[in-house]
Amino acid sequence: MENLSDEWDRQYKAGRWHFLNDIKEAARYGILSAWLEQTATTRAVLDVGCGEATLYHYLKSSGLKQYCGIDLSEIALGNACVTKDCTWLVQSDLESFTPKPEDTFSAIVFNEVLYFCEEPELQLNRYAKFLEDDGVIAISMYTPAREKSGANRSIRKVWGETNNTDRWQVLDDLELKSYSKKADWKLRLVRPVRKPGKNFASLHPEVPGS
Ligand SMILES: C[S@@+](CC[C@H](N)C(=O)[O-])C[C@H]1O[C@@H](n2cnc3c(N)ncnc32)[C@H](O)[C@@H]1O
Repeated sequence: MENLSDEWDRQYKAGRWHFLNDIKEAARYGILSAWLEQTATTRAVLDVGCGEATLYHYLKSSGLKQYCGIDLSEIALGNACVTKDCTWLVQSDLESFTPKPEDTFSAIVFNEVLYFCEEPELQLNRYAKFLEDDGVIAISMYTPAREKSGANRSIRKVWGETNNTDRWQVLDDLELKSYSKKADWKLRLVRPVRKPGKNFASLHPEVPGS
């Protein structure tokens, strides 16, 4: 993971990701924060692969109470402009991050990060265990131009997994098209299916750590 985080650090140092603060990216962050406001899940938000914590600023005006951002890149986290109270930034890869057992989240956001992960479907199920009962997971992923790109493989796994109605309730599902950027994103808001009297681990023993 060290090489990977060095590479992300290098890109952040070079300003490769500054464009995420542009007006042409605002709609995507706006949708994610509107979803969390509407589902009343801004109490404790975990932003996985948070980068410079751009989403934090949108969530602030949607009633955010606590924010935890995790990211591989120390430089990105160092650039984040967040207040110290009720905000935690943790340098970690998403595959090994595990919160303290007493820390649960009302919402977990995977904003433009899941295609950097080999088994995103496993991670979705692993992170679902860190949610409060009514918690939600919000996902955004752009649509790569090349059908056969590696990113597309991960993207298909994420949408395939969250299509599984035994595991996931889809609260909203949409596509965002930017004519000015000539880019498309797909965004989905899901809630893990919880059966009365059963916890996530007993329903999904196949998920590591359950
Ligand atoms: C495209 S940027 C998106 C940043 C942020 N979510 C946003 O939309 O503003 C992807 C981010 O994911 C982080 N990242 C990539 N692979 C990761 C991993 N395995 N674990 C944690 N963070 C990762 C990168 O460091 C980078 O900050």
